[in-house]
Amino acid sequence: MSPAPQDRDRAPAGMIEDADGHRLTLGVVTGRREPARARPLGCAAHVRQDADVPGPDSSRPLGPASLPRAFDAHARSYDRLVAANPRYHDHLRLSARRMGLARGSGLRLLDVGCGTGASTAALLDAVPGAQVVGVDASAEMLAQARRKNWPPGVQFVHSRLEDLDRAGVTGPFDGILAAYLVRNLADPDAGLRAMHDLLRPGAPLAVHEYSARDSLRSRMVWDAVCWGVIIPMGRLRSGSGDLYRYLWRSVRAFDGVRSVAERMGRAGFIDIRTQTVTGWQTHIVHTFLGRRPAGPDPSPGAADELADLETPPVGTPSVD
Ligand SMILES: C[S@@+](CC[C@H](N)C(=O)[O-])C[C@H]1O[C@@H](n2cnc3c(N)ncnc32)[C@H](O)[C@@H]1O
Repeated sequence: MSPAPQDRDRAPAGMIEDADGHRLTLGVVTGRREPARARPLGCAAHVRQDADVPGPDSSRPLGPASLPRAFDAHARSYDRLVAANPRYHDHLRLSARRMGLARGSGLRLLDVGCGTGASTAALLDAVPGAQVVGVDASAEMLAQARRKNWPPGVQFVHSRLEDLDRAGVTGPFDGILAAYLVRNLADPDAGLRAMHDLLRPGAPLAVHEYSARDSLRSRMVWDAVCWGVIIPMGRLRSGSGDLYRYLWRSVRAFDGVRSVAERMGRAGFIDIRTQTVTGWQTHIVHTFLGRRPAGPDPSPGAADELADLETPPVGTPSVD
């Protein structure tokens, strides 16, 4: 990975334009000043270093063990932050639709890391009437989810993915959506294997996730949006920028597209495909699709399953 800026409140200056021509002005942000214009997304992240639980804006970095408490602290402002990014929900709905689930068939679906329910709503949009189990490690994020109006058949369970069995959540599921979760896991490979084992044979997994590592342009846009918009706005709205600095850092540290797909292959998934989304998130946010084999599991990670990965943005220099 290219050298990352220090974890300080500093932003690149300038302006970026997304694929639809919307302009985002970026200013130099220091201390608690507001950026010129704010369009945050929201969602946090994964760094493979466990720490004790740090307080808000602690100099100690967040890690998988401390994340649920960090989400607890940010739960009340989370929906307002993601609402400032109109495409947040569109992209989740897109990933849910890409799972290719049959509508109206009484499917049983799992939303791992459901947070305040944005991804749960996306699943219901794709399959109205589905039975959906939303699970999350943060009690406060779940409390926000439970406050919303849900049709019968939607259930929320407080549990980490790693502890689902103990929480009484067992398969088989007809589909699993993991939106902005895999980066947050201490062991993403084990998490993917666990999701594979919870699926009915032949059923799909969609991993909706940031991956910017493969493209210099993607990393530059990511840095600019985080330091110009997301981190300052996260701090303004929630009083603490820790989760949003963590988001930035974790995406910088996370896998490239091919590596995520390879992880899925090693976990036993087949028919692995990736597609990106619209807007400035193009080639930064992706849907990684795979399914559990319908028959006996083949040898993991069959290389030919990785053949049709999305192509990188035209003209993007690859420096990794
Ligand atoms: C960035 S939010 C995404 C929420 C929701 N999926 C969405 O798209 O808006 C990530 C969520 O994953 C949860 N999470 C992190 N690690 C987890 C784990 N090991 N098991 C279950 N949930 C976890 C966090 O508590 C947080 O609510």
